[in-house]
Parts: sequence; C-alpha cells; structure tokens
Amino acid sequence: MSDALDRRATRGAADPGLPGRVSRATALEPTATTHAGSWAPDAGQDSSALIPMDAPPRLAISLAEVTKVYPNGKHAIEDIDLEVPEGDFVFLVGPSGAGKSTLIKLLVRDEVPTTGSVVVAGIPLDKIRRGDIPMLRRRIGIVFQDFRLLPRKTVRENVAFALEVTGTPRGAIRTTVDRLLALVGLTAQADQRPGQLSGGEMQRAAIARAMVHGPELVIADEPTGNLDPLISWEIIQLLLRINEMGTTVLMATHNAEVVTALRKRVVALEEGRIIRDEVGGYHREYA
Ligand SMILES: Nc1ncnc2c1ncn2[C@@H]1O[C@H](COP(=O)(O)OP(=O)(O)O)[C@@H](O)[C@H]1O
Ligand SMILES: [Mg+2]
Repeated sequence: MSDALDRRATRGAADPGLPGRVSRATALEPTATTHAGSWAPDAGQDSSALIPMDAPPRLAISLAEVTKVYPNGKHAIEDIDLEVPEGDFVFLVGPSGAGKSTLIKLLVRDEVPTTGSVVVAGIPLDKIRRGDIPMLRRRIGIVFQDFRLLPRKTVRENVAFALEVTGTPRGAIRTTVDRLLALVGLTAQADQRPGQLSGGEMQRAAIARAMVHGPELVIADEPTGNLDPLISWEIIQLLLRINEMGTTVLMATHNAEVVTALRKRVVALEEGRIIRDEVGGYHREYA
C-alpha cells in the first residue's frame, strides 16, 4: 500500500521544476522517443518539433456532452465538456446551486449522467460494473466540507479503516498511516478522536484518509467551507503539496482570495454550464 504513495512521491521528485505537470510530461516521453527516429531528416529543427503536436495528454478527467437532470426535473449539469490532464490543479467555482457538487458526484459515480460520457482515471464510468465501483473509489480520494470522519474512531483508526476494509496487512497499514499522518502534520494527534480536534485538524485527517490508496486524483468539495481564512490557507497548501507529488487535484471552492492568489486553472460553473475556463482570477459572479 505504501508503494502507491512512494510511486507518486518519486514521480514528483523526478521533476520538481514542473509541479502539476509531472505525469503529463512523463506520459509524452515514450511518444517523443518513438517518433524521433522517423523524423530524423528534420533533426536540425527545434527539438520540440520531435514531440508530435497531436500527442494527447493523459487525462485524469474527461467529460463529453454531460447533462444531469434530477428526477424532479432539475437540470443541474447542462451539456458539459471538460478535460483535466493528469497532474493538473483545477479550481471549480460558481455560486451555490451552480452544479459543482453534482459534477463531483458524477466523477465518483454517486450519480449517473442523464446523457454524455464521463471518464475518470482512464475508467469509462458508463461501462463500469457495480462491483468495480470500489476500485474506482480507491483511485480517487474524496474530501468534503464536513470532513465525514467516523466519530468513535481515532485519527489513526479513521485513516487505517479504508485499508483494513481492503485486507491490507497490519504492518503495511501502520507504515502507510504513519507516513500519511506525518504528511498532513497530525502525528501528535494520532490517538485523538474527531471531537477532540479543531476543524483544520479534522480536515487534515480527512485528507490523510483520502490518500490511503495512493489515488491518482483528489477531489475536494469546498474543503475550506467550514474553516477560517488562516486554516483554509494551510489546507490549500497541503492540497498543493499533494499535487506537487504527482496527484491531480480538483477543488470546488468559494474562496476568492485563494483562487485569485494561486493563478491556477479556474473552471466556472453557472446554472449547470461552464461559463469560463481560464488560468487565474476569481470573478464576482462566482460568489
Ligand atoms: N438530489 C437532487 N435532486 C434534485 N435537485 C438537486 C439534487 N441535488 C442537487 N440538486 C439541485 O441541482 C442544482 C445544483 O446543485 P449542486 O450540484 O449541489 O450545486 P453547488 O454544489 O454548486 O451548490 C441545485 O439547483 C440543487 O438544488
Ligand atoms: Mg456544493
């Protein structure tokens, strides 16, 4: 189990100059090498020409013409196309009711789209069988606004639980949990229960739990919605660090200050449609 985390850490370490782009660069390498030989006559050109322009990035998320109509007739998501390359960090913004949580539910197959296709971590969700859903959920780490920790379990037990369920040997569980608690800065609180933690600490525990299977993608639905500004920044820094280690991060948020400061890709939803998809800036209508 700890291998999955090691793998990600190593990937990130391989190219610290390209946080958030590491896995994409890696994905392009074999293609570039393969084509280099046959393009030899042009070898005098800029070496970037050796990377075929049509080489597709590996995608963590791909939605095509996705619409979600709830049974009550509400069109929560309307004809959305969205591609998130592996390794990206993306903010999902928009006013309350814009469809952010619905979009996230479609990604983790809590909901199924009315029409359109959703592919996550290379898995086409319309083809997935019910029995494969746990496998999908292991490849995605999910973080919620309200933490959703088990109140009677300690921090350590909350993080370990998902590994116990999948039958991971005890020694491996301990190693993985220790490392994750260190990553999120909760080593000293390992034996406390959620009720004995601050909001920021609860969210750190939830993030550690989201990372137990070494997910390719972490999806956070307003993870700082219940936290004050300083603690919110700490949580964002943690998610950025996880991203730099090679994990794709999609974060729904209302936090204008954070979105504006970080100059990451911002996908803005309004009434179920993408109204803007660009790097940087938080516009007033997102609140
Ligand atoms: N289970 C549901 N049944 C019917 N309508 C829903 C359901 N869940 C959400 N909605 C509606 O879909 C719209 C989008 O909701 P949601 O995805 O929660 O938006 P956001 O997360 O951006 O606030 C809202 O109008 C909401 O009331
Ligand atoms: Mg929501």
